[in-house]
Amino acid sequence: MARINVGVLASGSGTNLQAIIDAAKAGEIPAEVVVVISNNKDAFALERASKHKIPGYFVDLKAFPSREDYDRHLIMLLKQHKVDLVILAGYMFLVGAEFVQTYLNRVMNIHPALLPSFPGTKGVADALDYGAKVSGVTVHFVDRGLDTGPIILQEAVPVKDDDTEESLHQRIHQVEYKLYPLAIKLFAEGKLRVEGRRVKILGSL
Ligand code: GRF
Repeated sequence: MARINVGVLASGSGTNLQAIIDAAKAGEIPAEVVVVISNNKDAFALERASKHKIPGYFVDLKAFPSREDYDRHLIMLLKQHKVDLVILAGYMFLVGAEFVQTYLNRVMNIHPALLPSFPGTKGVADALDYGAKVSGVTVHFVDRGLDTGPIILQEAVPVKDDDTEESLHQRIHQVEYKLYPLAIKLFAEGKLRVEGRRVKILGSL
């Protein structure tokens, strides 16, 4: 099966990026990470890219007159690397209208809660603070909203009485490392069909 080119946008540590690189290298998913882009020059994600000889770019928002120009630069880089699917992995910015339009239903995000509960940057802490008994992981296509796009995969993670944000996030991470590669695999195999808000998975998982 032909492999798809994946471009990853990450702002931080990039453990999800690592899980995807590992799954690709092990031949578990028909995909290759061809470029990593970060808005943060200190992102460990960029080191992971360099370790695996994947082109990595720090793109400084401050170097551009507007968010639109910054996004346009990202699109240019992604096109240069012939990216088929864009993966947001701990990327701390929303992508703009032109970005979403250019890569319509070809941008995925992972969120550390069961959307639509607890969107935003504090998904793990918010679920804990609310007293939720179950949280989890959501992989979704990206639209113009904050964590609002059509849901591809979800998996629940029980919240324990003695959980801290750290312990819960650690168990959530373990599920993320499995779910994100799976979503990429389904996309690469052409098994995801978006019908309005619903993403149908063709065939079996
Ligand atoms: C993950 O928990 C993801 O759900 C959220 O940001 C975190 C990124 O972690 N969007 P990492 O950089 O992949 O380690």
